[in-house]
Amino acid sequence: MSTSASQGEIVVGLDIGTTKVCAVVGEIAEDGITILGVGSVPCRGLRKGIVSNIDWTVRAIKDAIEAAQTMAGVEIRTVYAGVAGSHIRSQLSDGVAAIAGGEVTRADVERVLEGARAIPVDADRQILHVLPREYIVDIQDGIRDPIGMSGVRLGAKVNLITAATSCVQNVIRCAERCGLVVADVVLEPLASAEAVLSDDEREIGVAVVDIGGGTTDILIYVDGGIAHASVIPAGGNNITNDIAAGLRTPMAEADRLKRLAGCALGRMVADEEDIEVPGVGGQKPRRTPRRVLSDIIEPRVEEIFAVVRKRIEDTGLLEQLSAGVVLTGGAVLLEGTTELAEEILGMPVRIGFPSGVRGITQLVHGPQYATGVGLVKYGAQAIADAHARAAAPAHSMMRMTASATKKFEDERPEDALKSQSKLWEWLKAAF
Ligand SMILES: Nc1ncnc2c1ncn2[C@@H]1O[C@H](COP(=O)(O)OP(=O)(O)OP(=O)(O)O)[C@@H](O)[C@H]1O
Ligand SMILES: [Mg+2]
Repeated sequence: MSTSASQGEIVVGLDIGTTKVCAVVGEIAEDGITILGVGSVPCRGLRKGIVSNIDWTVRAIKDAIEAAQTMAGVEIRTVYAGVAGSHIRSQLSDGVAAIAGGEVTRADVERVLEGARAIPVDADRQILHVLPREYIVDIQDGIRDPIGMSGVRLGAKVNLITAATSCVQNVIRCAERCGLVVADVVLEPLASAEAVLSDDEREIGVAVVDIGGGTTDILIYVDGGIAHASVIPAGGNNITNDIAAGLRTPMAEADRLKRLAGCALGRMVADEEDIEVPGVGGQKPRRTPRRVLSDIIEPRVEEIFAVVRKRIEDTGLLEQLSAGVVLTGGAVLLEGTTELAEEILGMPVRIGFPSGVRGITQLVHGPQYATGVGLVKYGAQAIADAHARAAAPAHSMMRMTASATKKFEDERPEDALKSQSKLWEWLKAAF
């Protein structure tokens, strides 16, 4: 990823979640990304991944940015912000472009992707990402990176991720009200995947399932490319609600009980274990078997994974997930979640901890930080790509100039003009 031009640059990921806002500050170093600071504060400004109260969200972003800024000792101006919610959709598209110089360049790839995004999208929606699944050079398909390949015709099959414009705008507005510039808005599971997946897993097929407070996000990789993305509007908060109602205890206590004593698999809980449940409205706390708590939790977690399985089945990709499922998000910290997921999904399941970064990693070592760390990695890659793009025109101009000069040396000026127009004729005929 790193180019010498991007070294020393600061990248900030801003994960605006249903339960917390988390700002992660990274510095692009020669040998990777160093985490310099983290600020994570509770936030009640979102419902199911969508901003529902701007003022509360702005307050939380300010606090998180301030904390991250103080820890990192840098001033934060620009952020890569996450977005989720059930308004997210993915759809297939493709594009074709002429390979200008007979060898695929970065500019050709950009043109073909530009073509792939030129499809009608509802007026109230916008394209968030154009994610290549494969490239086709002439008749050869299944190509991951076509740059440098020879041919005349470049095709691309992509997954377009679209989002409701108003939801994206609200994320940007909240950040801007804190004096921040949003460099890009990124699909949250894409960021989480960036933080926890290995290239091997993407290659042999894997699904990232991020279970946060308000949403469960799914992202499927097959043959190294993204094949599906969707968001289910349910998460850890639904479990907390059930506990609060089932045990008649305040929400904050229900969340505490879930974290400290909750278990997603009832058979993992011994019969004799019990817990103290605080009462509501001044009622006295009472002792209850821990099994009662897991009996409330298990059906809800089961339901979430049943919907996840159904979504994966509907894509027709279930059999292609040889690396199984990687779980991220705070809700997967619930004891027994991995075991229950393996039973329902019928494939290997592991918890994804952010990796591939250095610095104060102990502060982001948890599946709930996958999105924040992933946003930093995504931003670092975007900066490296921008530097490479800025360098590319000079390089391709040099190459074109060199080959054109060679041709012009061999021909008289009038012949050169003729051969240029012949080249155009030939290119037009080829398509
Ligand atoms: N140790 C734990 N055991 C069980 N649940 C936990 C634990 N820690 C956090 N959670 C739950 O994880 C959820 C929050 O996860 P996370 O921080 O990933 O959500 P978020 O990013 O704020 O929300 P979303 O991504 O859905 O918008 C909450 O429901 C919380 O109760
Ligand atoms: Mg989240």
